[in-house]
Amino acid sequence: MVFGVILAGGIGSRMGNVEKPKQYIHVGGKPILIYTLEKFLQQEEFEKLLVLCPQPWVAHTESLIQKYCPEQADQVAVVTGGDTRNETVMNAIAYIEESYGLDDETLIVTHDSVRPFLTRRIIQENIDYGKKYGAVDTVIPSTDTIVSSGDGQVISEIPNRSNMYQGQTPQTFRAKRLRELYQSLTEEEKKILTDASKICVIKGEQVHLVQGEVYNIKITYPYDLRVAESLIDNNILEE
Ligand code: CTP
Repeated sequence: MVFGVILAGGIGSRMGNVEKPKQYIHVGGKPILIYTLEKFLQQEEFEKLLVLCPQPWVAHTESLIQKYCPEQADQVAVVTGGDTRNETVMNAIAYIEESYGLDDETLIVTHDSVRPFLTRRIIQENIDYGKKYGAVDTVIPSTDTIVSSGDGQVISEIPNRSNMYQGQTPQTFRAKRLRELYQSLTEEEKKILTDASKICVIKGEQVHLVQGEVYNIKITYPYDLRVAESLIDNNILEE
């Protein structure tokens, strides 16, 4: 079985002083989260879509889904997220285990709720490669040169740009394996995690790449809201 796991458990601290987490901010007349959910609802292969959000936002999230996607609301379950992004992913796996059972092939397509511009192709390739390889990350080639600095003062290294990619989402995993790997990490290793692919990388498991899109941006700062507005206004996105 394949599950869509939409990660909306964060509070969006880098967005600054706004009255709600950024996934609920309206862009082009709709909450960001709803654009993301609509993309997942177009893909029929999902057994269920999970939206994970902060506990105080569960009822609000449910009412948004009823309002914007009334005919497909029964395909979506709203679940409480965790303290970190990866704990949110683990909550999704626990929910799937409880409600459907987990086997070795159970696949989760995890996605940032604040990346509303993903495409059908990206979702489809995540599912296809996920089934084949077990772990998938969506990336684009890095356009800027990446400069590494250990102390934030001087350059320690400039890796070859042609080997550098920027990580996006979705990230797709066999759920049971991902949880086993996560549980085998030390507390120190857990602290340096930024995303779920790193769980696999730290443990030496291969993660296959899917090509993302430049416009599959993550809305992080107020500036990104303006970019998102103009992408919607100019109607330059696919579908
Ligand atoms: N996320 C989550 N659970 C958490 C933290 C983050 O599901 N405990 C989700 C966010 O809701 C977001 C995605 O992970 O959709 C990407 O994270 P990020 O952009 O860092 O979101 P926030 O943690 O909300 O933002 P910030 O780091 O600025 O506080």
